[in-house]
Amino acid sequence: MLFHAHEAVLAHEADFDGFRREARRHLAAGVAPHDLAFVVDAERAAAPPAPLAAEDRDGPARPVHVSPSLLALLAAAALHAEPQRFELMYRLLWRLRDQPGLQHDPLDPDRLRLGLMAQAVRREQHKMKAFVRFREVAEPGQATPLHVAWFEPAHHVLEAVAPFFVRRFAGMRFSILTPLRSLRWDGRTLHWAGGADRADAPPADAGEALWLAYYAHIFNPARLKLAAMENEMPRRYWRNLPEAVLIAPLAAAATTRMGQMLNSPGTAPRRRIPEAARAPDAARPVAFASGSQAWPPLPRVLPQAAPRRQVLLAERRTLADGCRACPLGEAATQTVHGSGPVGARLMFVGEQPGDEEDLRGEPFVGPAGRLLAGALQQLGLPQDGVYLTNAVKHFKYEVHATHHGAMRGKRRIHKTAAQQEALACLHWLEEEIALVQPQAIVALGRTAARALLGREVAVGEDRGRWWPHASGSPVLVTLHPAAVLRAPAAEREALTAAWMQDLARALAPPGLPPAEA
Ligand code: URA
Repeated sequence: MLFHAHEAVLAHEADFDGFRREARRHLAAGVAPHDLAFVVDAERAAAPPAPLAAEDRDGPARPVHVSPSLLALLAAAALHAEPQRFELMYRLLWRLRDQPGLQHDPLDPDRLRLGLMAQAVRREQHKMKAFVRFREVAEPGQATPLHVAWFEPAHHVLEAVAPFFVRRFAGMRFSILTPLRSLRWDGRTLHWAGGADRADAPPADAGEALWLAYYAHIFNPARLKLAAMENEMPRRYWRNLPEAVLIAPLAAAATTRMGQMLNSPGTAPRRRIPEAARAPDAARPVAFASGSQAWPPLPRVLPQAAPRRQVLLAERRTLADGCRACPLGEAATQTVHGSGPVGARLMFVGEQPGDEEDLRGEPFVGPAGRLLAGALQQLGLPQDGVYLTNAVKHFKYEVHATHHGAMRGKRRIHKTAAQQEALACLHWLEEEIALVQPQAIVALGRTAARALLGREVAVGEDRGRWWPHASGSPVLVTLHPAAVLRAPAAEREALTAAWMQDLARALAPPGLPPAEA
């Protein structure tokens, strides 16, 4: 065992500030790298350090200038699992005293090695952000669940990624357990503790079943590239990733599923809009009718007259089939009306129909709708007991050319409806609300929330809360399911959990007893 005349004490494995302080002290005292060992000892680090006698036999200590880029490199390398990393970093600093040019020499062996270590650490940080999976735990006396994740990082990256998780999930109580250190965020303060055991992490929860269902849904057999996937999601992370259990069966079935996809005929849109109405008329300016002025007014309806409301709803739908109050009806396959019973307890309002909805003439039957249906099922709300509709009743899209190997095609890509388009459509939604008379309304995403609340809405800030509506039915704002589907992998699970929490809140509108699940 090597004997070192000096020890620099650090508080924990990722204590870069401690390293800088100790390195400065020992450099100033002229302690050569072979005489110095770095040790991690929280208790000793908390005590004032023993003073060092100046030992520089070459005269007074020379200051070491470290460029910002080298400092960043050292900060990352300090988190590497290599036990000798601090000694290596110190040696580089020591050599910089006489060779300041080393700062910029990428081929210097010490700098090169530290550079590779920094790279590995940054990659691990990125993976941790993507692969942490939370599970819910109910805690006695707490109104909201604690989200607990178990992760085994290859390097000491927990401290470095903690601010990311706090920023991302600021409103959520969570804890991340790792073998070396653990953290807990209570909504205000970050608490640190020692290492944990995999057995300390909770078992799978209900949210995980939804996550797995979602993963199986979005799995596209035609895009399967196992090697690229393993590169992106290396196997060593799989044991802590719930979705990993699905990879083998989904991959095994991919060839068959792709054959089925290739053999099935394309879906031909069933155009419902009369040709005359569809004919483009270049001379005609883009028209926006102002609200409901173009339509016969909705007769006054009594709350209890459900059959009458049903008839009126059917009439409004026939009128809306011919709506050209904005240009969207020209390009859409058909008007997509709301679906569900008059008197449904909850009304869900989305943005506009998507590609599948436009072809089938029903709202929420595409990927976002399937995610919503899964969530409602989890919450015990049968989809046929709710009313689903959209703020805008026509699909707005752009046609893009696609290439998959030798196959070429065209895809209709969703475009967000403009505010004017949503405004032109608003009276249909208001009439639906007047006829369905839901006890509460859930606005899925910004377009729906803006239409319902009549103001700009920041979904991130306004979600999860009830807002008054002129109809008397309060409006709960939450994320659109497509936003959950599109979220980066690192955020998706927590976003799903937050979304589920909002949807669960929708079951108990203010002033009403909770819906029986
Ligand atoms: N997204 C929506 O907002 N509505 C639908 O009907 C489908 C997808």
